[in-house]
Amino acid sequence: MCGIFGCATSGSKAAEIIHGALKRLEYRGYDSVGEATIFEGKIYIKKDQGKIDDVHSLLNLDDLPGSLGIGHTRWATHGAPSKINAHPHTDCGEKIAVVHNGIIDNFDELKAELENLGHTFKSKTDTEVIPHLIEENLRHGLPFIEAVKEALKRLDGSYALAIISTLEPDKIICARKESPLIIGIGEEAMYCASDIPALLPLTNKIISLDDGEVAVIWSRGYEIRRLNDWAIVAREPEIITWTVEMAEKQGYPHFMLKEIHEQPLALRNTLRLQDLYLDLIATFLDRAKNVFLVACGSSYNACLAASYMFSKLACISAYPVVASEFIEQFGSAVNIDSAVLAVSQSGETADTLMSVDYARNRAATILGLTNVVGSTLTRVSRVYILQQSGPEIGVAATKTFTAQLLVLAQIALRVAKLRGKLSSQEIKGLEKELKSIPDIVEKTIKMNVEKASQIAKKYRDSRFFVFVGRGINTATALEGRLKLLEIAYVPSLAFPAGESKHGPISLIEPGVPVIFICPRDKTRKAIIGNIMEMKARGASIISVIEEGDEEIKRLSDDYFEVGRTVSEIFSPIVFIIPLQLFAYYMAVEKGLDPDKPRNLAKSVTVK
Ligand code: G6P
Repeated sequence: MCGIFGCATSGSKAAEIIHGALKRLEYRGYDSVGEATIFEGKIYIKKDQGKIDDVHSLLNLDDLPGSLGIGHTRWATHGAPSKINAHPHTDCGEKIAVVHNGIIDNFDELKAELENLGHTFKSKTDTEVIPHLIEENLRHGLPFIEAVKEALKRLDGSYALAIISTLEPDKIICARKESPLIIGIGEEAMYCASDIPALLPLTNKIISLDDGEVAVIWSRGYEIRRLNDWAIVAREPEIITWTVEMAEKQGYPHFMLKEIHEQPLALRNTLRLQDLYLDLIATFLDRAKNVFLVACGSSYNACLAASYMFSKLACISAYPVVASEFIEQFGSAVNIDSAVLAVSQSGETADTLMSVDYARNRAATILGLTNVVGSTLTRVSRVYILQQSGPEIGVAATKTFTAQLLVLAQIALRVAKLRGKLSSQEIKGLEKELKSIPDIVEKTIKMNVEKASQIAKKYRDSRFFVFVGRGINTATALEGRLKLLEIAYVPSLAFPAGESKHGPISLIEPGVPVIFICPRDKTRKAIIGNIMEMKARGASIISVIEEGDEEIKRLSDDYFEVGRTVSEIFSPIVFIIPLQLFAYYMAVEKGLDPDKPRNLAKSVTVK
């Protein structure tokens, strides 16, 4: 899971452009960084372990000559983060440089074969086999592009690649298999990148490559071909409407805080989605005999909440499944009558795509919900919806999570309509409430910024947290816990409150903070009972309540108040807000960078 970038310009200094683009890709991985350019028949490389700013202050990444080059920001898979393992990687003769996102499964065999042929490897990476394979093909007299093509055919696994060589100093060869790669078309330059933010200030004209495609780009043009038969692929560019400002921090100290504040806007955008696609998805779900909601991380938590929505509104049992377990858990049950609704912010999560691939092969209907135009999920889905949240740079999902919830609620409502499960009055009421959610979220953010910062100060040294919810807000508890542990590194437990007596309550001792999600719905009485149990054991109670809920306020040591929602199905969208802010301020209190949690990456494109 890394970010790659390449640019071929007609005279501009490539190194600075690459540096800027890598900064915008840093969320994909940030343990090492490197750039390579070509100038007067020679390859120049700067690379090292560390975050881009640190490496730049040591090496001055902008100080590479030439108008064409490639760059990489790394999240290690094979080979620990180190200068030698940082990309770009080269062949023995240093005529070829390669950046790679993905994993070459058969690199061991290839490496042994190439070492037997006399190639010397410098790094422990899987990637390094690629320049050596190309070099070997060149030794056999193949022209450069042919040598790359034959090398690609030997690779098993996944890759997004950008390859340069002194033999074709004006060209970058890009190739894609399972890892994302897009081409950007500029005025006097062409680009390739793992993701849209890298291209934003450079161009808004992009072409997404499909699996098995190779693109050759030069400053004034490009050619896309299929690897297997070398046939030319004609594909119209898409225009991206994201602006540069949308991807910048806009005055907030961190992207995460900015993205938390962007939620009212992002939610309003999800109320403008095209009816046609929402209806189509609802129709497929209605027709299916079994429905699976497949996702990872926060997207999974959204699916868990959605399973309650589908059941409560439309009387459908939709199984929320963690994507990495889908094939084992439900694989044999998937068939032509199944619908798989895959939810993935990036549309590139490897486990989600693997589940989708599996289900497609068993003739299931694939439906997608994603935030990224041209992502793999959009290409493998029968129908997909773009949630229109704009780029999310912070590794921890915030605005994309609540937007997923609101899209899923709309879909559930439509299925309910199709199935005649709600009266027209109920539907009208829910539709009205749906429209008010962005305003309630806006108000809830305002109500909690200061509060979250204060409560984080008070609990900053707590070493363990418990999150408890009931019903649909079990998902809120899980998501609140995920935020806290992923960015503030605080071990935490989350569970449906009813499970408390089956184990977790044994961990409660005086002073342990327990966060309760307390909407005014059917679960309220039982939740109050759970609060009493925890209080009796000395826990510090932090509740998330609807404004004016004096009874629970009195039972709590601390509380967050949220704006009122009428229907429980929308409540997670509102109740998660204080918990996002709390996790953010806990990370800040501990001096951590909430945008870049250790060992995590925004988009997990390896299994
Ligand atoms: C990573 C990210 C999470 C995200 C998950 C699923 O773990 O850090 O924030 O929820 O991947 O990503 P997806 O793009 O499929 O929603």
